[in-house]
Amino acid sequence: MKDKVYIFDTTLRDGEQVPGAKLVTDEKIALAKQLELLGVDIMEAGFPISSPEDFNAVRKIANTVKKSTVCALARGLDEDIDVAARSIENAAAPRIHTFISVSDIHIENQMRKTRDEVLKMVDRAVSRAKSYLDNVEFSPMDASRADFEYLVKFTQVAIDAGATTINLPDTVGYALPEEWGFMIKSLVERIPAFKNDVVLSMHTHNDLGLATANALAGVVNGARQVECTLNGVGERAGNCSLEEVVMTIKMRYQDRFYTQINTKEICKTSRLVSEVMGLPVQPNKAVVGANAFAHSSGIHQDGIIKHRDNFEIMDPDDVGASGSAIVLTARSGRAALKHQLEKLGYVYEKANLEPIYLRFLEWADEKKQISDDDLHALVENVEAISK
Ligand code: KIV
Ligand code: ZN
Repeated sequence: MKDKVYIFDTTLRDGEQVPGAKLVTDEKIALAKQLELLGVDIMEAGFPISSPEDFNAVRKIANTVKKSTVCALARGLDEDIDVAARSIENAAAPRIHTFISVSDIHIENQMRKTRDEVLKMVDRAVSRAKSYLDNVEFSPMDASRADFEYLVKFTQVAIDAGATTINLPDTVGYALPEEWGFMIKSLVERIPAFKNDVVLSMHTHNDLGLATANALAGVVNGARQVECTLNGVGERAGNCSLEEVVMTIKMRYQDRFYTQINTKEICKTSRLVSEVMGLPVQPNKAVVGANAFAHSSGIHQDGIIKHRDNFEIMDPDDVGASGSAIVLTARSGRAALKHQLEKLGYVYEKANLEPIYLRFLEWADEKKQISDDDLHALVENVEAISK
């Protein structure tokens, strides 16, 4: 039997923390509707205490979205939790997500408290959230740098107070896949609730480029919720990327796990995020980058034209991409040129192609890329000379 991995999207909260990416309410609502179409299980709509505008945006999202759970973030403080609860009171499926740091680095240098004082705060925060609704997620912040025995105690206090999801953040993107996977496995072994009704989640950051690898290592070792964002946007180097984790589960872990994401909506959602946040997607970005299904070298182009599987592991249709592209450059071969010419209506036998190919190489050495317009001009040029 396959296990479901819950997809918790935090584009509207952690993603929106990117400098310059702040969204106005209408943009947040448009994105929330698209996330619902994408099929995320839970969307973190914002951090309501942070500003009146964010409170209103979360409230409107809670009134609009019906299929996904709508989550509001709150520090482990009474007022934060009260405001978060109010912002989602009309949601069809509301969740409060509250957090308190668990690492000694944060406890000593940021909170300036003792471990025992912090345990009391955990109990108080979760109990308060629980007084408003049943669906409460609790995050021991900076879990990857915490003392493991204290993390176990901390987590147990949150579960005893009623947390239904425990989310382990690798807040500073410090974890390695093998140690993160081992930590998840050890926590599942130590806390029986994770084998019953409490969901173990992860929130991984990408400071070392390992956010997706860490999230997947966690899934393999027993976690069942992944927190992520479209295009991997988020604080500093960003968060685990939704499209990477979802497509890796679909393409490589399909015998063990599944998600409920409608993958055909991925590229559309990625474009919307990029547009409203003003954050261009790097061309080589996995799954959603402009070059994710573009082929430029002669050998690859020849292989793709003969059989897509030669050089593609995913069907572009599956993620809503516009299809595989053959990009003509000075590294392209005869097969790609012939293929593109045929698409434009010019059919050449092998022998007749040679003069066109030689002229194509001259032009391609001068330009970075040969467009369809260039190809029309190229054919006219070669045919005029040969008359
Ligand atoms: O990175 C982090 O620790 C967070 C928490 C609020 C979950 O974003
Ligand atoms: Zn974060």
